Amino acid sequence: MTVELIIVIAAYLVGSIPTGLLLARLMGGVDIRTTGSGNIGATNVSRTLGWKVGVLTLLGDCLKGVVPVLVARHFGVTEGWLALTAFAAFAGHVYTVFLRFKGGKGVATALGVFLALSPLSVAGAVVIFALMLWKWRYVSLGSITAAAAMPLLVALIDRRGLIFLMSIAIATIVIWKHRENISRLKSGTESKFKG
Ligand code: G3P
Repeated sequence: MTVELIIVIAAYLVGSIPTGLLLARLMGGVDIRTTGSGNIGATNVSRTLGWKVGVLTLLGDCLKGVVPVLVARHFGVTEGWLALTAFAAFAGHVYTVFLRFKGGKGVATALGVFLALSPLSVAGAVVIFALMLWKWRYVSLGSITAAAAMPLLVALIDRRGLIFLMSIAIATIVIWKHRENISRLKSGTESKFKG
């Protein structure tokens, strides 16, 4: 129990590291919260400072999900603790303790969490994301659709009950965090991906 609790707390703290904010400050001298959409994630970093810093942000945020899950698995925790560790890493990014609990939208960290837990489900979600981006040119729409599909993919492919419940929680929060994007999509003011 003690080891499991330490892993969950460490996962939250690792998830809390604001990769995009730090990289944008170090490599571009900007506060990413004051430019573009104001989000600290890879899309906004890429929009503001170019794709290279964007990709670095994506990798960093993704690793924050992968590493805690791999560590938890290494310690042989139960499925419940594994799901909690994954959720803690994700929650750290979205509600980071280092930015007064105002973090990112969680897509890249969720990607990392599920890459470590259920890579085949991620493959399905990535295909959905890519198709939506290709068709509509909105990263946010791709993220929302992929997030909504994730619990279904986990249910069909992974089939672990507690991981499924955790995927519903993550999908709900990712979609909630995109509520401003949803308003902009509705009003036609969302910025398109220029890749
Ligand atoms: O992962 C975040 C993405 O879906 C939207 O980012 O900056 O356009 O709000 P942004």
